[in-house]
Amino acid sequence: MGTEAGSPAERSAPGGATGSRVRLSVNGKEVKLARDPDRSLLEALRVELGLTGAKYGCGEGECGACTILLGGRPVRSCQVRVGELEGLEVTTVEGLARDGHLNPAQRAFAELGAFQCGYCTPGMVVRTTALLRATPDPSEEDIREALEGNVCRCCGYSRILRAVGRAAELAREEEG
Ligand code: FES
Ligand code: FES
Repeated sequence: MGTEAGSPAERSAPGGATGSRVRLSVNGKEVKLARDPDRSLLEALRVELGLTGAKYGCGEGECGACTILLGGRPVRSCQVRVGELEGLEVTTVEGLARDGHLNPAQRAFAELGAFQCGYCTPGMVVRTTALLRATPDPSEEDIREALEGNVCRCCGYSRILRAVGRAAELAREEEG
């Protein structure tokens, strides 16, 4: 299996949030979201915060297009309810660059043109970022395993696999 975090119900909910707003950090900034028990994090990111990098694919936790980092771990934001996020840290694909510099995964996907329509790409890039943080020198098997829950409907997976390998090289070069 990949590095998917457990479902929100499996994680302890810190803080025991109350009130009509949920406070959390998104891409390093504190935000407050309306506490709607039915609202997914994906919808809140896209509609309430205007962060449209994470994509709506299946809405059922199957495609990975909506992958974001929650507390540094990759999760499918369509499966996370806003009310479960009090005090947690969310990073979306928009939050991966530092000081205007794309991160190694972003650079590698761009360099190798590892996309066609690009719909799956933010999720792939976020997933790759999480993989490389945990496993800086991944084997091909590690890469396949990490990406097995991220579906691409139009681009050859071979280019995506190469891009993840290239991202690992770039990340190691950055580490110096
Ligand atoms: S939209 Fe979330 S997994 Fe497909
Ligand atoms: S590039 Fe189109 S879905 Fe992956």
